[in-house]
Amino acid sequence: MKTIAIIGCGRIANGAHLPALSKLDDVRIKYACDILLHKAEAAKEKFPKIENVIEDYHVALADPEVEAVFVLTPNYMHYVITMDSLRAGKNVFCEKPITVNYALSCEMKEEADKQGKMLNIGVCNRYHQSVELLEQLNREGRFGNIYHVVCSFRAHRSIPGLGGAFTTKSQSGGGVLIDWGVHYLDLILYILGGLDGVKLENVTADAYCEMAKDMKAYKYKSMWAEDTKDVENGTNDVDDFISGYVRTNKASISFNGAWAENINPETKETYIDFLGDKAGARLMYGGKFEIYDGETLETIKPEYDIPNMYLKEDAAFFESIDSGVKNRNNIDNILESMKLLDRLYESAKISREIDCNA
Ligand SMILES: NC(=O)c1ccc[n+]([C@@H]2O[C@H](COP(=O)([O-])OP(=O)(O)OC[C@H]3O[C@@H](n4cnc5c(N)ncnc54)[C@H](O)[C@@H]3O)[C@@H](O)[C@H]2O)c1
Repeated sequence: MKTIAIIGCGRIANGAHLPALSKLDDVRIKYACDILLHKAEAAKEKFPKIENVIEDYHVALADPEVEAVFVLTPNYMHYVITMDSLRAGKNVFCEKPITVNYALSCEMKEEADKQGKMLNIGVCNRYHQSVELLEQLNREGRFGNIYHVVCSFRAHRSIPGLGGAFTTKSQSGGGVLIDWGVHYLDLILYILGGLDGVKLENVTADAYCEMAKDMKAYKYKSMWAEDTKDVENGTNDVDDFISGYVRTNKASISFNGAWAENINPETKETYIDFLGDKAGARLMYGGKFEIYDGETLETIKPEYDIPNMYLKEDAAFFESIDSGVKNRNNIDNILESMKLLDRLYESAKISREIDCNA
């Protein structure tokens, strides 16, 4: 039996981890914590496995029964809560991104090593069956040499919680790149390199904060994270569009990402193309993929059910605590993705290519 605490009872807690953890028989949710106590209480109503609600996460850290905590708060709090939890001797599952920048992410890894505790990051797509299959097929040589990856994560109107934590750089670390690009670029690195990883060479990017620079004038039809918005007094200083180019030791990557853009909504693009000399694959983000085989002009659409990736990543976290073996979502295997985001932002800031090994 694993006794755990959930810290942060917002969207990802209610929509992903609490449903998954409720299904895992050998997990006891002793605490649900939120600085807004009513959110922890609302979670307890929905998920009866929750035993206690608390406002201060230190209460859970002081409880010797708690073996692991889930950090499901806004990005800037990941660092503080994870460091406190590791120092209190807890294993930590921390949502993506690791935190707001690469330097602090490295400190989190060092603390996990120092305390001898597991620190996993919620890049859930590594447990998506399409991603698992593509990584395996690439390892087996199905695509030959993947020389380039084309990636697009572009939406028409989807700036989350305008003026709140998502659009305030000091709290989020960035906009569409760190919020959505983190998933796309991480899964690309994983498919290209598996657990051996990919080595970054250099990157270049341009990022823009254009669509809602006048927050009150921004027009949208629907927007998620409405409950955190503060259009009157808040801040919006993050990228709503980014375009970048990445060179690695495996393949080059070109990508465009938009939380919002003035393009016909029908053109929403959320795909990744892996271009290999034997075959290529288009992964529809969050869904299935097609393989295009150059010799036969065959289109293969794998048929399979996609099990719940959150359930798999949470179960794998507990298994790794028991076995002591770091798994694919361990911070050791995610740091290169965080470095990539960091270097892309640096490049966009100075409008120059960045050597990732300088
Ligand atoms: N894996 C995914 O696909 C995915 C999807 C959505 C969000 N996320 C990540 O999950 C995290 C949370 O996002 P969200 O959409 O659930 O945000 P949210 O704003 O809905 O929820 C965050 C909650 O944390 C609480 N909180 C803030 N500081 C706290 C503290 N010190 N102690 C306890 N509670 C605190 C807030 O009151 C809020 O209820 C973010 O880092 C986000 O990037 C990941």
